[in-house]
Amino acid sequence: MGKQIMENQTTTSSILLFSLLLSLFLSTSYAQLSQNFYQSTCPNVESLVRSAVTAKFRQTFVTAPATLRLFFHDCFVRGCDASVLLALPSGAAEKDHPDDISLAGDGFDTVIKAKAAVDRDPKCKNKVSCADILALATRDVVALAGGPSYKVELGRRDGRISTLAGVQHNLPHPDFSLDQLNTMFSSHGLTQTDMVALSGAHTIGFSHCSRFSKRIFNFSPRSRIDPTLNRTYALQLRQMCPLNVDPRVAINMDPTTPRIFDNAYYQNLVQGMGLFVSDQMLFTDSRSKATVNQFASSNAAFKQAFVTAITKLGRVGIKTGNQGEIRRDCTAVN
Ligand code: HEM
Ligand SMILES: *[C@@H]1O[C@H](CO)[C@@H](O)[C@H](O)[C@H]1NC(C)=O
Repeated sequence: MGKQIMENQTTTSSILLFSLLLSLFLSTSYAQLSQNFYQSTCPNVESLVRSAVTAKFRQTFVTAPATLRLFFHDCFVRGCDASVLLALPSGAAEKDHPDDISLAGDGFDTVIKAKAAVDRDPKCKNKVSCADILALATRDVVALAGGPSYKVELGRRDGRISTLAGVQHNLPHPDFSLDQLNTMFSSHGLTQTDMVALSGAHTIGFSHCSRFSKRIFNFSPRSRIDPTLNRTYALQLRQMCPLNVDPRVAINMDPTTPRIFDNAYYQNLVQGMGLFVSDQMLFTDSRSKATVNQFASSNAAFKQAFVTAITKLGRVGIKTGNQGEIRRDCTAVN
């Protein structure tokens, strides 16, 4: 009897020890990322990046949407390792994939300019990864466009691999259903709420007409206009994006406040003014509708959820410690 109790206690304490270790492991699994990672190697990294990004933003607003989308596309393919920035002589790099080809050049230019600014400080030269510079620049453009500011975790290392195949099936398409979006985002540890909050990035920036032309001209045999699309808005879209429009034409994704990072994206969804199926469906699908309503009615709730979600996005597939490298030139491996 006494022995039995002893054994039970041993079992209980080993379970306790095990769960303690497990929770330590889970809570420190991003321990290699920290907000003060460059405290001794490049203490001014935040202000160096911010000045360069601000100067670029003053030249062109596209800096903001281009950089934000670049960060997302980087993180979903091989993790946040700046692999999206690599150029290959073969023309078969990540950025050459059809899903990345519309990434605006100003996003790449923002990182290159910020990297140059960091490397002009002798203390910092070749100490800060391109992946971290992209994460910082993303925070800065969101704030510059009127969105929330937040602390950025640092310590990512740059990847050395970039392939077309890595992109295939790893980025969402504008005709995705809620299930398809949830499957893709949850494979990176992001919840449906994170996904809805991150989609709010479409409150700034542009889309080419081809991404939604089916919705306004030839949706189904029964209805030429997607019935979930606001009809007035659909007719306006037809004016801006007529059949056989110049493929270079791009229109604002948020027609109400296209240059402000705010919750207007969700207010638009409530009115049937989501540009892509993957946007509008967040409101039409009953599983995500409440979240859209919440963000539509509270900019503060949206901002808070966005900060949580983009911080989680910044941890996806990261390389730390002695994995990868600190690239000297963000467009090429060392
Ligand atoms: C939820 C699934 C998503 C889909 C299906 C999607 C799809 C798209 C598409 C088709 C475009 C237009 C590209 C073009 O025609 O040039 C676009 C633009 C954009 N996306 Fe997304 N996206 C998604 C999520 C995100 C996320 C999570 C972010 C960032 C956190 C983001 C940021 C942006 C930005 C800022 C633009 C504008 C880019 C520019 O103006 O240069 N998107 N997205
Ligand atoms: C369609 O959009 C207009 C504003 O452009 C709005 O007044 C109207 O309520 C919307 N219709 C629906 C069904 O949401």
